[in-house]
Amino acid sequence: MSTRHLVLIGLMGAGKTTVGLECARRLGRPFVDTDDLVTSAAGLSVEGIFARDGERRFREMERAVVADVCASPEPLVIACGGGTVLDPESRRALRAAGVVVWLRAPSATLVRRVGNGATRPLLRDDPARTLTRLERLREPTYEAASHASVDTDGLDVAAVADVVVSRFEAAAA
Ligand code: S3P
Repeated sequence: MSTRHLVLIGLMGAGKTTVGLECARRLGRPFVDTDDLVTSAAGLSVEGIFARDGERRFREMERAVVADVCASPEPLVIACGGGTVLDPESRRALRAAGVVVWLRAPSATLVRRVGNGATRPLLRDDPARTLTRLERLREPTYEAASHASVDTDGLDVAAVADVVVSRFEAAAA
């Protein structure tokens, strides 16, 4: 069994947290979510950090969390925030320490999954338009950051986890 981390990336609503938890259960590894680690370090929600300190500071905090989790000697399943790999240093660290799997879904599906985007500061105004714009903007970055991609549309969590774990095992072999 590989000692590399399994890292999940993709847009908001891609299923990184739910699929990550299922993959962690199957692989018998701890699960971590970079948003949770940032918010517990800050003692503030994601919206709170964006409102108080701005997105730039949030990305710096993400970078510190990513460095920490990548250094874990215990192999982990790591769900990243949607924008984590926009930071070149985080991207390099995650690719070096893990197998990075990009969870994809059409923007209509993402929009349905995120609902009104209440807890996501970037989606506050118009989730559908923003997700479509972010998809176009971020696609090249997700492509460059990932070792494999998985199309999640029409699949339930168990089916996505099946594909992710098999891609992970193939890439980590
Ligand atoms: C963000 C995604 C969010 C969270 C923050 C910014 C982004 O995480 O990190 O709201 O830039 O795409 P999820 O993808 O887990 O919702």
